[in-house]
Amino acid sequence: MKILENVSLAQYSTMRLGGNARYFAEVKSNDDLLGSLDFAKNNGLNFHVLGSGSNSIFQDTGFSGLVIAMRTMGAKETEANNELQLTVGAGEIWDDIVKLSTHKGYFDVASLSLIPGTVGAAPVQNIGAYGQQVSDVIDTVRAYDTSKGIFVEISNKDCEFKYRKSRFNTTDKKRFIITSVTMRFCRKNIAPPFYSDITNYLQSHHIDERTITPIQLREAISNIRAVKLPDPADIASCGSFFKNPLVSEAEYSQLSTQFPELKSHKTDDGNLKLYAGQLIELCGLKGFHDQETGMATWKNQALVVVNESAKSTNDLLKFKKIIVTIVQKKFGITLEQEPEIIAV
Ligand code: EPU
Repeated sequence: MKILENVSLAQYSTMRLGGNARYFAEVKSNDDLLGSLDFAKNNGLNFHVLGSGSNSIFQDTGFSGLVIAMRTMGAKETEANNELQLTVGAGEIWDDIVKLSTHKGYFDVASLSLIPGTVGAAPVQNIGAYGQQVSDVIDTVRAYDTSKGIFVEISNKDCEFKYRKSRFNTTDKKRFIITSVTMRFCRKNIAPPFYSDITNYLQSHHIDERTITPIQLREAISNIRAVKLPDPADIASCGSFFKNPLVSEAEYSQLSTQFPELKSHKTDDGNLKLYAGQLIELCGLKGFHDQETGMATWKNQALVVVNESAKSTNDLLKFKKIIVTIVQKKFGITLEQEPEIIAV
């Protein structure tokens, strides 16, 4: 494994912004990982672990330590008694796993089609869409525990999965470096009702909900996403840039008298989730192109921020401030950003 110096991080973030990493290593094995962590320790450097960069935004000053790009690859598969088990390297692309499992006839993660990112990143924020989440299929996560200095195996229960959360992005943030994930798939059938977006798509494509196949569901989700979201191959973005805000029932009833069009969804803890995309749209900012910063909100989904011609992360932060300020003024809600800004 080579440790590179002064590597531009813009090429490693899907927002395509940010300065240089002082040091950069591509890790392809557990030995590479130990070697790179030794290098960081011996040189008194911080490290940052990177998947495919769809949730990381680097500052213009870059990163003064070592960026560790996880590229541990490979998938081991066994199938018995109508159950598929896959052990997959952290560096593999998540969507390839969705493709593989749906083509083998399993529905478990069909709704997670086309979610960007790597397998190692999926458990961290417990990726989810249309009622499915990766924690439904995770059996164990293998990781290096930086606080104990050993490789460990963590059971599903011990990952402490919640909605878009796990111990890896909360209580034990930065403690574990995920090297591989074992998943089990067993859903050969799926029963309606589906989310309305999906039902509408199936109806307009004359696909019977009751006889749909995993491949058809994957295709439907992929097409729905393709219409709403920019293609990461063509357009720089981090997907959802803002989190959907939560408000109490009291706050919601006040807001909805003023703005009866506001959509909401009740969460398990009794709060209401509003939709950042709708709030931004109601401010007239859907498909808003800002000439000064070169940033825009996406024309078909306002919570996606895209980099059209920005020159720096500073441009992005300026643009974010414009959106946050206008939404705050209209609704009294402060939008929070979803991708992580990596500390220098
Ligand atoms: N809406 C608007 N205007 C917009 C966007 C949305 O009014 O510009 C309304 C929609 O009409 C809908 C509601 O807001 O009633 C929710 O929209 P949508 O179904 O698109 O979902 P979302 O909550 O905006 C989340 C994820 C997406 C994921 C979809 C589908 C977050 C922050 N985002 O978006 O994830 O694709 O659900 O499951 O939870 C991503 O991770 O990059 C991403 C795009």
